[in-house]
Amino acid sequence: MSRNNELQDIMDLLKKLEGKKYGICIRDTEGIIKYINSIYLKNINCEAESFIKGDKKESILNERDCYLKQKTIKENNVCEKDPFIKFIGKSDSISEALNIATKASKGNSNVVIFGESGTGKELIAEGIHKGSYRANGPFIRVNCAAIPSNLLESELFGHERGAFTGAIRKKLGKFELAENGSIFLDEIGDLEKSLQVKILRVIQEKEFQRVGGEETLKTNARIIAATNRNLKKMVEQGDFREDLYYRLNVIPIQLPPLRNRKDDIELLIDYFLEKMNLQLNKNVKFITGRAMKVFMNYNWPGNIRELENIIERIMTLIDEDYIDIHHIPKGILEQDKTFINENDKSKGGINNILSISAKDEILPLKVYEKKIIETALKKYGSFNAAGKALGISHKTVAAKSRQYGVEKQVIWDKRNKVK
Ligand SMILES: Nc1ncnc2c1ncn2[C@@H]1O[C@H](COP(=O)(O)OP(=O)(O)O)[C@@H](O)[C@H]1O
Ligand SMILES: [Mg+2]
Repeated sequence: MSRNNELQDIMDLLKKLEGKKYGICIRDTEGIIKYINSIYLKNINCEAESFIKGDKKESILNERDCYLKQKTIKENNVCEKDPFIKFIGKSDSISEALNIATKASKGNSNVVIFGESGTGKELIAEGIHKGSYRANGPFIRVNCAAIPSNLLESELFGHERGAFTGAIRKKLGKFELAENGSIFLDEIGDLEKSLQVKILRVIQEKEFQRVGGEETLKTNARIIAATNRNLKKMVEQGDFREDLYYRLNVIPIQLPPLRNRKDDIELLIDYFLEKMNLQLNKNVKFITGRAMKVFMNYNWPGNIRELENIIERIMTLIDEDYIDIHHIPKGILEQDKTFINENDKSKGGINNILSISAKDEILPLKVYEKKIIETALKKYGSFNAAGKALGISHKTVAAKSRQYGVEKQVIWDKRNKVK
């Protein structure tokens, strides 16, 4: 395809997406797909617009030296070509992990993913499976820490009828279910020693027996393991078999905690905003700079899982179309010393519009406008009276209150009018 055709395709695509709340992917010259949020999309749209109008922007592609590929970021409708599309992050440590994971997905070696809880180990494991030739086979998860050890063996290898009390019928184990696919052994560090031997046998001989069974069964499932524990140290302390450690640890992937890759926080928040807007049918457009600062200063012990949960909680409860400090759970605010200090110093912000000073963060005008319209309606209870007080027509008040979604104040206020 010629450069011009390619460019035209992109312009057509951008035109179609314009104004819609879609994320798009951008594939750079090395073929790496990156997620670009919709705010960025707006900028690109503007650039495309001026390009189409014929001024200056001939360099849009030269400068970026990449071509755009459209994809909505709606869950389940993701770019099939990139198995890690749901994995967001561009910090160095994450790019390195992704790079190894991508290469690992093409091979058949055992992989262990290390990282604290919530850092995305399972997401990476899924990506490795989806990127492999086994993608059409099953991806079977087993959480070795969640299943009592006396049941784990039969969970992994299955059991014959009557193998133990309660085994009323034959059951297939996860290794059998993972035939032609991948088995994800999560929290492998929590595996008891007796089971460690059995897993070692599966890796070495590719065979196992059901509990209470005689028959030797073959498996071709690929093992992807994960743990939040330091396996090497466990080996030194005699808690994890050394032979199993080396068998598993052919390709180690280290996922950093979120507090060590703060560059990614903004990107992740944008992604979750977009995702929750679709899921919860909301229209939250941005997060204020000072709220973002609090998120950046927080140390995220629960990593991305915690961040995702907090954004979901905020977005479920929110009435406004932006996230500000008062939406953030107390526990997180309290940890933020800079915020507490700054808040002592300046009492500016949306609730103190008139005392705002140059020290404060200045919010977009419409945030103040919304607050003023809302307060006026609350106080006066009608478009007419609010309009008089604000020195604008009742039509303007009505239009703006609809725009900001605060017109309900009128009805509310008829009953609870402030005298
Ligand atoms: N890099 C990432 N981009 C987007 N979502 C992520 C990322 N890492 C983790 N998540 C999300 O965070 C949650 C926890 O991830 P998970 O893979 O279960 O972590 P772990 O297995 O390390 O505990 C999941 O909902 C997952 O989708
Ligand atoms: Mg997990």
